Amino acid sequence: MFDDYLSWKPYFEIVPMVHADCADVSELHGQRFSHKWGDGEFSGLLSQPSVFGVVARQTNAFFSKPLGGFVLAREAGGEAEILTIAVGEKFAGSGLGWRLMLAAMREADMRGAETMFLEVDGANASAIRLYRKLGFETVAERQAYYTDKNGTKSTALVMRRDLR
Ligand SMILES: CC(C)(COP(=O)(O)OP(=O)(O)OC[C@H]1O[C@@H](n2cnc3c(N)ncnc32)[C@H](O)[C@@H]1OP(=O)(O)O)[C@@H](O)C(=O)NCCC(=O)NCCS
Repeated sequence: MFDDYLSWKPYFEIVPMVHADCADVSELHGQRFSHKWGDGEFSGLLSQPSVFGVVARQTNAFFSKPLGGFVLAREAGGEAEILTIAVGEKFAGSGLGWRLMLAAMREADMRGAETMFLEVDGANASAIRLYRKLGFETVAERQAYYTDKNGTKSTALVMRRDLR
């Protein structure tokens, strides 16, 4: 019994994002990005037929289903793009980003996408590693595209992957 307690680890289900998720999603977005998107922005995007999202909800918490991460994407005309993705800091590195990306790629494929694009800060090494391992390749660079809070500029990488 005590051993079970010591080996307790969070389990997550990967499920479609619905409007009721948007407040938690916005909260987590604000924890992981300097420019927080409000829940109204997420809800507005999710209302668009071309936009879809996926969330990771913890299934073995005591009182609720805490949000572990989310991804929001768009599919139109055979092309999909990742709009934003984040995993809670305490769950980072445990495979949630991978699972969310796979779910988004699968949904995009089902909606008819042949390719998926995303844009990432060239300084975001952990995200770039994840995308490369998933088969994304850099197809364009936008120099001095991002500016951090200290005024330092960094390059945006546009990455692409075939889905078929
Ligand atoms: C980028 C981010 C989403 C990654 O999520 P994560 O849950 O920490 O990533 P994962 O645990 O799935 O991946 C971590 C590592 O395991 C690998 N991995 C995970 N599951 C795997 C699997 N089933 N098979 C092979 N590799 C796997 C990943 O590629 C990565 O490799 P690394 O050890 O070389 O870094 C997360 O760090 C984050 O939210 N960052 C802040 C927001 C952000 O930067 N978003 C991206 C903006 S473009």
